[in-house]
Amino acid sequence: MQHAWTPDSWRSKPIQQQPQYPDADHLAQVERTLAGFPPLVFAGEARELRRQFAEVTQGRAFLLQGGDCAESFAEFSAAKIRDTFKVLLQMAIVMTFAAGCPVVKVGRMAGQFAKPRSANDETIDGVTLPAYRGDIVNGISFDAASRVPDPERLLQAYHQSTASLNLLRAFAQGGFADLHQVHKWNLDFIANSALSEKYSQLADRIDETLAFMRACGMDSAAQVRETSFFTAHEALLLNYEQAFVRQDSLTGGWYDCSAHMLWIGDRTRQLDGAHVEFLRGVGNPIGVKVGPSMDSEELIRLIDILNPDNDPGRLNLIVRMGANKVEAGLPRLIQAVQREGRNVLWSSDPMHGNTIKASTGYKTREFEQILAEVKQFFAVHQAEGSYAGGIHIEMTGQNVTECTGGARPITEDNLSDRYHTHCDPRMNADQSLELAFMIAETLKQVRR
Ligand code: PEP
Ligand code: CO
Repeated sequence: MQHAWTPDSWRSKPIQQQPQYPDADHLAQVERTLAGFPPLVFAGEARELRRQFAEVTQGRAFLLQGGDCAESFAEFSAAKIRDTFKVLLQMAIVMTFAAGCPVVKVGRMAGQFAKPRSANDETIDGVTLPAYRGDIVNGISFDAASRVPDPERLLQAYHQSTASLNLLRAFAQGGFADLHQVHKWNLDFIANSALSEKYSQLADRIDETLAFMRACGMDSAAQVRETSFFTAHEALLLNYEQAFVRQDSLTGGWYDCSAHMLWIGDRTRQLDGAHVEFLRGVGNPIGVKVGPSMDSEELIRLIDILNPDNDPGRLNLIVRMGANKVEAGLPRLIQAVQREGRNVLWSSDPMHGNTIKASTGYKTREFEQILAEVKQFFAVHQAEGSYAGGIHIEMTGQNVTECTGGARPITEDNLSDRYHTHCDPRMNADQSLELAFMIAETLKQVRR
C-alpha cells in the first residue's frame, strides 16, 4: 500500500543528483515565483500524448523522441530551434511515408536543461570544482564562481523554455510543418549528400501524392497542413518540477505542466527514491531509462509504482544498454513484462550506452554503434514477439561534428571542428536522417 502522494512528498525521500544551493531562502523564493507563473503546457495536452502513447504501445504508431542532450543559455536562437525541428520533421516523414506508420513526435526541447553527472566534482590541472549540472543549475566555465548553483538560473530556464515552446507551437501549427513544404525541410548544409538525395526522392513522391490528393479535393485537411509536436525533459531538478505541478481544472488530477512528458534518468530511478515518488503522482505520460543494471524483478516493481492501473499510454521504458549488451540484457526484461501482462511502450535510446572517449580526449559516440544498438533492439523485440515502439536520440539540426562515422564520415580528427554540445555528443542532420532511413526499412518489414 502506497502512502498518500502530494506535490512535495518527494522531499522526505532519499534523493540523488541534486545541486547544493548555498542560499536555501533564495531557492525557496524562486520556487514561489515559479509556482505563480503560467504553466508551459495544459493538462489536456498531456492526456492527448497519453492517448498517442497508447497507440504506440499497441503497435499502431512509432515514437520519435529527440533533441539536445542539454539545452544551453548560450545556444538559444530561432535558427537553432527551427533546424532541430526540421530534422525531426524529416525523420518523422521518412518513417511515416516509407514504413506507412504514424509517428508521434516528442522533442527533448523547451526544458531539457538539468544533467545528472557521474561524478560530483571535476578536476582539471589539480583544481577541483563542483561538476557542471546544466545551465539551469550552474555555469559550464571551469571557474569557482560559475560552478556555484544559482537559483536565478531556474527563472532563465523557464523563460527560455516558454519562448522555445512558443516557437515550436508556431512551427507545428502555422504552416511550416505543412506537408507541401516537405522539400524545404532539407537543410542547406546537407544538400548534395547521399542522404539529402535520398530524402529529395522521397519528398518528390510525397509531392506527387499530394498532387493526386489535391485533384481529388483531399489535400486541405488539418493532418496535411499542421502537425502535433510534444515536449519532454528529464525530471531531475525536483524543486523546479514541483513548482509546475498544477491541478487540472477539468479532471481535478495533478499534472507536471513544465512539459508534456517527463522521464526519470538511469541514475535516479531508485524504487524508494524521490524521483520515482514525484513522478508517480502526476498524470503526464512518463518515461524511465532502463540501463544494463536493471533486473526484471526491479523493473516489475517499478512498473507497479509508476503505472498501477496498467494504462497503455502511461509508461515508456527507454532502454539504453549499449550495443552488444541488448541481446543479453533485454530479453529477460521483455519476458517479465509479458509474463506479468504489463502494458508499456518500449523505446530505444542508442546514445547513452555508447559514449566513449576519443584518443583526442573528446567524448564521442560511433554512429555504427548507435545503428547497431537500434538494430539489436528491433531484433530482440521481434524474437520475443513484442513491439519495438520508438527511439530516443540526442541530435541537432546544427552541422556539428560530435559523433564519429556516418555516410559523410566524421573521423576522430574532425571532432574538434564543430564540437558544441554542453554535455553528450549529438548526431548531426546527416546521421539522424541515415538512422531514420534504416528504421523505416526495419519498420516496413516488422509491420508486414
Ligand atoms: C540523458 O538522457 O541525457 C541521460 C543522462 O540519460 P541516462 O539517464 O540514460 O544516462
Ligand atoms: Co545525454
